[in-house]
Amino acid sequence: MADPGPARPARKRTRSNQSDTMHRSRQLGAALLGLGILAAGLSATAQTRGLVFRNTVTGEPLDVTQGKEGGRDTAAVKAFLATGANAYIDDKSCLRNGESLYATSCSGCHGHLAEGKLGPGLNDNYWTYPANAEDKGLFETIFGGANSMMGPHNENLTPDEMLQVIAWIRHLYTGPVKDAVWLNEAQRKAYTPYKQGETFAKDAPGQCKPLE
Ligand code: HEC
Repeated sequence: MADPGPARPARKRTRSNQSDTMHRSRQLGAALLGLGILAAGLSATAQTRGLVFRNTVTGEPLDVTQGKEGGRDTAAVKAFLATGANAYIDDKSCLRNGESLYATSCSGCHGHLAEGKLGPGLNDNYWTYPANAEDKGLFETIFGGANSMMGPHNENLTPDEMLQVIAWIRHLYTGPVKDAVWLNEAQRKAYTPYKQGETFAKDAPGQCKPLE
């Protein structure tokens, strides 16, 4: 964030006439503008300290400290809670874990390839809840659940594991790359669609330790 700097000191008043009044009102305007910029700057700072996560359906704030213990002090979780960017998206060591966590917790309802089963498909660009196009929204749905059979998963997955599951779900994506808003520019250029049967070595280098 650019520091807007201190407000300019008020000029010494030497005259008391109309042009001086105009001058002062202009100064006031500039000061108010300065305050506005400062306020915007402060709220941007607040955002980088932590985003507010909300229940996908009710919009109630979620307490991300609640649920399965652990998996909160990783660099990836800290960065994600502050910015909404998932550092695991293209990390093979995390995709390998994500595949296994997804198979245990999600595939029974959403299908092996996230093609949809009892629950909706998660591998295309259609979302019942449009916020799920962003990793923050997907995290909110996994953490706090949605309607009917889509219960909260914060008791069986840590936030770190959720980021791994999200990476895997994004990896299964089959829609147009232009809608893959979870990828940055470089990742979009390098993007190759998921190939069925693809496997990742247990010692694939990266940020995630093998689960088992
Ligand atoms: C018991 C079955 C079941 C399990 C297990 C389950 N889901 Fe769901 N899921 C559903 C159903 C049913 C819906 C539709 C709910 C709704 O529309 O509110 C849903 C909805 C969703 C949505 C919203 C999709 C959209 O189009 O906006 C996401 C995202 C999601 N699930 C992810 C997951 C993930 C990730 C897991 C594993 C951690 C998981 N689900 C486990 C049944 C399940």
